[in-house]
Amino acid sequence: MPNASEQIMASQQMSKSDTINLRKKHIGQACQLFYRSDPLKIVRGQGQYMFDEEGTRFLDCINNVAHVGHCHPEVVRAGAMQMATISTNNRFLHDELVQCAKNLTDKMPAELSVCFFVNSGSEANDLALRLARNYTRRQDVITLDHAYHGHLQSVMEISPYKFNQPGGEPKPEYVHVAPCPDIYGGQFTDKLYPNANLAALYAKPIEDICARQLANGQGVAAFIAESLQSCGGQILPPAGYFQAVYDAVHSAGGLCIADEVQVGFGRVGSHYWAFETQGVVPDIVSVAKPMGNGHPVGAVVTTPEIAQAFHATGVAYFNTYGGNPVSCAIANAVMRVIEQEQLQQNAQRLGEYLLRECNQLKQEFDCIGDVRGMGLFVGIELVSDRETRTPDTKTAHWVVDRMKQVHKVLVSSDGPNDNVIKLKPPMCFSLENADEFLLAFRECLTLHMQQLHAAHPDVAADNTNSVITTAADTLANKTKRFDREDRFIKSV
Ligand SMILES: Cc1ncc(COP(=O)(O)O)c(C=O)c1O
Repeated sequence: MPNASEQIMASQQMSKSDTINLRKKHIGQACQLFYRSDPLKIVRGQGQYMFDEEGTRFLDCINNVAHVGHCHPEVVRAGAMQMATISTNNRFLHDELVQCAKNLTDKMPAELSVCFFVNSGSEANDLALRLARNYTRRQDVITLDHAYHGHLQSVMEISPYKFNQPGGEPKPEYVHVAPCPDIYGGQFTDKLYPNANLAALYAKPIEDICARQLANGQGVAAFIAESLQSCGGQILPPAGYFQAVYDAVHSAGGLCIADEVQVGFGRVGSHYWAFETQGVVPDIVSVAKPMGNGHPVGAVVTTPEIAQAFHATGVAYFNTYGGNPVSCAIANAVMRVIEQEQLQQNAQRLGEYLLRECNQLKQEFDCIGDVRGMGLFVGIELVSDRETRTPDTKTAHWVVDRMKQVHKVLVSSDGPNDNVIKLKPPMCFSLENADEFLLAFRECLTLHMQQLHAAHPDVAADNTNSVITTAADTLANKTKRFDREDRFIKSV
């Protein structure tokens, strides 16, 4: 096998500007880059780090796909060995395929014992809808506002995150959008309804849709939701929400689909699947992204009854690449590494630390309106006014940019107002990494407060210079480390 530097030489020989020009010419403009004004050219990844063409090291806080760490050697080895042995379709018997199905279903509640393999999250959700529509003989789907479930036609239709954008295609009549259960910035907040049962308040619109659908005789085919909504801005539904919703949907004859494409495989720390945090059992679960650690593989997991009804149509399910031995060997390696390296436990420990420290920052910086999360899935909502919870999109963008430009830490922003700083790093994220993020983030917030103070001298500014100096010192040390690592890269 070629070593890392040979691979970089082979695949990344162009100057960055040539890469940009070729991309502009041949790649559809709808494919947007991160950091559009100064995009990153990433040539190598290792663990929780990514390296650009100059050898600069970036701390990756956004890649929930590289779940067990970029280019994890065991995963790479499993894929390469299987690739060198045989890769064919799932119409042949293969142990990696059945083992992968066993490994996945062993982690699920007992009723979810049958798998269909696919190549992406979009395909998983598309198939989940087909299974639900076939089983229920109904068409209508309930989805949550701001949800994203993939790029295929069928799942774009249930993704308000996309179809509500200017230029998005109109929502079909058979899709019903319920409010996102965001208790900080949504329709029912803990501020407006301090003593209310927020789970019940957010479940009510879904109960109403179900009642309407029963009354008009159409019923419901499915309710689909991410167990924690990521595109919605790292949303944790209030306890009891999914139970109330699942009950309503089941009463209307529908099935419940949990989209675990982003939040599955131990990311939430306390559980392997995020739906487990609400004590519910979905009828269908979609998984993808982290399952392949960067390799395209996904699955739909369901009950024998739903799978049998799909079989009974007489139309066979065939997917050329879904369930090929290479993808399955990789997925098996990912699940093995999660266990061996106790990454779920790491997510829980680090998540608690990050939440505690970010809440501490919230005490110090008024621009932090809310800190929420579970495991290594954390959101920090920036506001310009805590009282009114006014989203501060501009500052969020500025922070994301400064974190990358100055601190070489990659974070992203999301949510309906794009003001939530999102953290969903590879699960090998360490305490040292968390501190690196926190120090950099603190420097950004401090500078932001200084700038606010300069613009409005009546706003108090305290201790800001020492924080910025400390962060600058740390940055200088880190740069020395980058230099060392740069030499390391060039010598491998
Ligand atoms: C929650 C969720 N579901 C589905 C998808 C679609 O997955 P893919 O891009 O692998 O098709 C995504 C992708 O971002 C996602 O975040």
